[in-house]
Amino acid sequence: MNLLLAGDFDEAERADWAAALAAALPGHRLCLQRGELPDEAIDAAIVANPPPGSLAGLPRLRLIQSLWAGVDRLLADTALPPGVPIARMVDPAMNQAMAETALWATLALHRGFFTYAAQQREGRWAPHAQRRADEVSVLVLGFGQMGRTVAGQLQQQGYRVAAWRRHAAPAGEADPAGLLVHRGADGLARALPQSQVLINLLPLTADTRGLIDGRLLAALPRGAGVVNLARGAHVVDADLLAALDSGQVGQAVLDVFHTEPLPAGHPYWRHPRVVVLPHAAAMTDARSAAAVVARNIDALAAGRPLAHRVARDAGY
Ligand code: GLV
Repeated sequence: MNLLLAGDFDEAERADWAAALAAALPGHRLCLQRGELPDEAIDAAIVANPPPGSLAGLPRLRLIQSLWAGVDRLLADTALPPGVPIARMVDPAMNQAMAETALWATLALHRGFFTYAAQQREGRWAPHAQRRADEVSVLVLGFGQMGRTVAGQLQQQGYRVAAWRRHAAPAGEADPAGLLVHRGADGLARALPQSQVLINLLPLTADTRGLIDGRLLAALPRGAGVVNLARGAHVVDADLLAALDSGQVGQAVLDVFHTEPLPAGHPYWRHPRVVVLPHAAAMTDARSAAAVVARNIDALAAGRPLAHRVARDAGY
């Protein structure tokens, strides 16, 4: 197969991906630039948020394999070839990285470690009451690959965990033992007042954009922690800042933003109760992800079903 790598990589990232993919895909030709082979020869594109229009005019294209788990930016490309299957990145190593970030944030919220870090900056010695994990309720928004891994590991850590998914589970799919999965708008309304920690892992779609707004935040218990590990556009920033300033939200941990990098001078940078991460909660690891890509390229070559197909109309 002739493969095209396209993305907004810097040179070092491009070289890393080229090496990892070349090693995982022996027997296939990997083009690092459009034009290395005629457009008519490209069978599949391996992409990391390529600039809009990058995949237009490839008549033989039969697979767009994303190196990102979230495909919202890819789907926003109005010149994306219609009808070509898209697959998202699903890599257990990435799910595990996300679980680590969610565990760290939850532990720090539960045990007051963010508060202690702030107290240190003020030179203030003040221990607070110590709660048990089973006294802390966590709601995971989104119950896909990452949401399940995160919810499972939080449960193992002893937290009271519930999850929320927008839609009913596919027929025949049971919820994991001991985990309450809320569904739909009513389910969310029931779950929020009992959730001291809210962890967002939803895909960004027309239905989830702006979901974390003033109304949702007001339904949480006072002082709740908000952890956004999905996309910045899930959050209405002005509403979150107002909720932080009023004390309705006690602490926010934000990995993702409307504009990335987060612009200099944005109120989140210096807010005393916001922790900013540079979209680093779960980065695609070329070492394991290249093998995931190779399995799908091999499936395409052999005419087998592709894994992790994106439903374009659903947006994930
Ligand atoms: C990261 O945000 C990803 O979607 O892979």
